[in-house]
Amino acid sequence: MGRLREVGIDAFAVPLDVTDDRSVATAAELVAERAGRLDALVNNAGITGGGPQQPSTVDPAVIRTVVETNVIGVIRVTNAMLPLLLRSASPRIVNMSSSVGSLTRQAGPGGDLVTGPVAVAYSPSKTFLNAVTLQYVRELAGTDVLINCACPGYVATDLNGFRGVRTPEQGAATAIRLATLPDGGPTGGFFEDAGVVPW
Ligand SMILES: NC(=O)c1ccc[n+]([C@@H]2O[C@H](COP(=O)([O-])OP(=O)(O)OC[C@H]3O[C@@H](n4cnc5c(N)ncnc54)[C@H](OP(=O)(O)O)[C@@H]3O)[C@@H](O)[C@H]2O)c1
Repeated sequence: MGRLREVGIDAFAVPLDVTDDRSVATAAELVAERAGRLDALVNNAGITGGGPQQPSTVDPAVIRTVVETNVIGVIRVTNAMLPLLLRSASPRIVNMSSSVGSLTRQAGPGGDLVTGPVAVAYSPSKTFLNAVTLQYVRELAGTDVLINCACPGYVATDLNGFRGVRTPEQGAATAIRLATLPDGGPTGGFFEDAGVVPW
């Protein structure tokens, strides 16, 4: 934040807990006061719920917690920010999904290799997020809002104990591209660096 401000960008941070109605409402109020509108919303917050996550032994509470952040959190934030997005000439929403939520890849050959270990909370939460994204796309058809899902690839972050092989900069590239799409760009897609991710 400090470095952005040093180069003249009017950057500001907004405290946010995506699982908390009050926090999300306050964040939207802060953006409204400081900027008056929102051009791009990247729903990046996500948790795995830890492991192991075998379907036969998982604690249902883990699934509720993961869905609360990865799915309901996105809905809560998107709905709070939507009035501000609709004030933008070129509004964009990017939902940070994961290719581990791709049903096609999980069901296809080499499923484990391309989609990681069995994770009954995390992987389906991203499938759910993808499905929710398409409902927004359908509702907002006819507006200027472009909404897409992004997969960052396997990035070395807290999420995976820094076992990922990509840098955060590489992981952010697709989200940045989708957040800055030109008017008329794709909407309702699921993308990674290499192109389209199958649903
Ligand atoms: N890393 C990968 O290989 C990978 C692969 C595919 C998809 N993704 C997705 O990419 C996104 C970013 O993950 P990451 O790898 O950067 O993981 P990360 O380093 O663990 O970052 C996750 C971020 O989400 C925030 N967060 C968690 N719960 C929140 C809440 N209730 N309210 C607000 N913020 C919350 C965390 O904030 P705090 O630090 O304050 O807790 C943290 O900044 C996630 O949606 C993840 O599922 C990651």
